[in-house]
Amino acid sequence: MAKNTLSITDNRTGKTYEVAVTDDTIKALDLRPIKVNDADFGLLAYDPAFTNTASCRSAITFIDGDNGVLWYRGYPIEQLAEKSTFLEIAHLLLHGELPTQAECEQWIYEITHHTFLHENVKKLVEGFRYDAHPMGMLVSTLAALSTFYPEAKEVRDPEVRRKQIFRLIAKTPTLAAFAYRHSRGLPFIQPDNDLSYAGNFLNMLFRMSEPRYEPNPALEKALDVLFILHADHEQNCSANAMRSVGSSLADPYCSAAAAAAALYGPLHGGANEAVLRMLNEIGSLKNVPKFIEKVKTGEGTRLMGFGHRIYKNYDPRAKIIKQIADRVFEVSGRNPLLDIALELERIALQDDYFVKRKLYPNVDFYSGIIYQAMGFPVEMFPVLFAIGRMPGWLAQWQEMLLDAEQKIARPRQVYIGHARRDYVPLEKRGSAPQPERKTARAAT
Ligand code: CMC
Repeated sequence: MAKNTLSITDNRTGKTYEVAVTDDTIKALDLRPIKVNDADFGLLAYDPAFTNTASCRSAITFIDGDNGVLWYRGYPIEQLAEKSTFLEIAHLLLHGELPTQAECEQWIYEITHHTFLHENVKKLVEGFRYDAHPMGMLVSTLAALSTFYPEAKEVRDPEVRRKQIFRLIAKTPTLAAFAYRHSRGLPFIQPDNDLSYAGNFLNMLFRMSEPRYEPNPALEKALDVLFILHADHEQNCSANAMRSVGSSLADPYCSAAAAAAALYGPLHGGANEAVLRMLNEIGSLKNVPKFIEKVKTGEGTRLMGFGHRIYKNYDPRAKIIKQIADRVFEVSGRNPLLDIALELERIALQDDYFVKRKLYPNVDFYSGIIYQAMGFPVEMFPVLFAIGRMPGWLAQWQEMLLDAEQKIARPRQVYIGHARRDYVPLEKRGSAPQPERKTARAAT
């Protein structure tokens, strides 16, 4: 009978080792006994950017990148986007199950009643320059919330965690809206707790002199679906940041700020902003082939919104976004950038360069076009991603804290610096011969 083990022969010594295979993985620590001699530290797995390393066991999100499949807690994203709501999804990600009617009402009540910010947060936001990027403001104010809720550091206490989870899901849109209003020189708008989560966010962003803001139902629904599509995506760069910082037992505000900082980058959540800038730069349909050629030579930019570490097929979220685009355009009018995006996709999907590398549109390719049609400025795009992703970050953080196998995240390295050398006094520097660089591995 076949055994669930892996035999490894070390050709340096001729010794063979048998390592257990569980869930198609081996434990990197099982490589440690593989040594050349007793003084040897033992074999390490080298995996920059974790391209083939599972850092945890997780029951939250499943992705089959080859077949373009995404499930939250087992439910296909297509069904959730069509039938569910963002707050229900937040409950699903954090609790593992869709809420019952009573649970759902309580959950929504709790989140809705934590939307207000301490008045001092306004002063913090006002301290930013008029042209500060809202994502920079969001990262900073998320971290600042830590100082308002010092009890949040009791991360091992489930009741304390619960409270901070409500606060973070509830207050992130308020922080985001305040950042937007500040950059527009507009007065802050307080939350309207009679509106839905997405509806209230639109209220805090766009309300002007009207006594009561009435969100457009089509835009409110589209935004709720966009939040659902962004709610979690297993061990991506920002979830990894959330887990990594959280593993030091930092409070969730600081961990969420770290996650938001990771999301800010153009290869991650900043990609939707980069897509819009790219589409504007291309400017018209006739420039698309030339742009594609520039991408292929590698001298220009990448085709932003294309490619994914995990998906080697069409991102299922991008398909859903394309469908909701029409509903948004009925209200807002068609965004002319859509034609450029469609042409880019058409050419890229037939081009050998993209086909060979399995590069398909990802979630960010069409989201920016919709956000723009809904009236959001480009700088707000990654902020919208962060609001949607908050329940996912919190679910990943909580799962990490409850996982007995997890410890403070602390990777190993292969040291390639200088061998030991003695300090050279200033007056003798420049003439002292430098010892050759030598590869050595840190041994503890
Ligand atoms: N345009 C052109 N070439 C690309 C692109 C692209 N968008 N993405 C990857 N490639 C090429 C890359 O040059 C490399 O080619 P070669 O083998 O000749 O060197 C090959 O495809 C593999 O790329 P990689 O960088 O090794 O792949 P990765 O898994 O490290 O990167 C990625 C994944 C998402 C960072 C990358 O595809 C990318 O930079 N895409 C554009 C930015 C983007 O849209 N990011 C949003 C990701 S989805 C939202 C999220 O989860 O954050």
